[in-house]
Amino acid sequence: MALPYVGQSQLLSQLLGEVIASYKPSSIALFGCAGGNGLERISSISVKRVVGIDINQQYLEHTAARYRDHIPRLDLFAGDLGVDQFVFDPVELIFAGLIFKYVETTKLLKQALSMLISGGRLVSVVQLPSPIEDVTPSPYTTLKSLSSVLHMVSPKNLTVLARETGFEIESERVVTATGGKTFQVDTFRA
Ligand SMILES: C[S@@+](CC[C@H](N)C(=O)[O-])C[C@H]1O[C@@H](n2cnc3c(N)ncnc32)[C@H](O)[C@@H]1O
Repeated sequence: MALPYVGQSQLLSQLLGEVIASYKPSSIALFGCAGGNGLERISSISVKRVVGIDINQQYLEHTAARYRDHIPRLDLFAGDLGVDQFVFDPVELIFAGLIFKYVETTKLLKQALSMLISGGRLVSVVQLPSPIEDVTPSPYTTLKSLSSVLHMVSPKNLTVLARETGFEIESERVVTATGGKTFQVDTFRA
């Protein structure tokens, strides 16, 4: 049986591949990009620019080592999405996989809106309540130190706040990872 974190990581990678295949953005940003999970899926598709943002510089170095020779333009920023400002040309799509639980929701939504072109998409993945341990074992061990700021994100609250921030709701669905955890996947239009 697959370990829960493996199923979760595979699911996030698969979802990123799906949204890129569906929306065909030429530029994307990954919020909480960690080691670049899912970027291996974009090599054969027409993404010309990838922006990765993470609070952990070491993760970004890992991402750079893995992908700098495979992506036409890879811009990596270390910083706190709840506090810092990041300056780069707006992107067509933002993938926010399991990052909302670390950052205050409205702050993250405003960050996203400021980084998207008009009509651009924010795809969020949030975990739904589960009896399985919330922070699964991770190859990125320092992630556990962030657990003090973890909070559960209510999908209903997220959609309400997204509307208030200026997004339109394009789609909502629930997916299940190998291992049994369930996740809400929302697409918001700027
Ligand atoms: C659960 S992992 C994300 C997994 C990844 N998105 C994926 O698709 O596999 C959460 C990531 O968010 C980063 N993170 C946590 N709080 C953050 C913050 N305030 N600003 C930026 N990155 C943050 C962590 O360092 C970690 O890499």
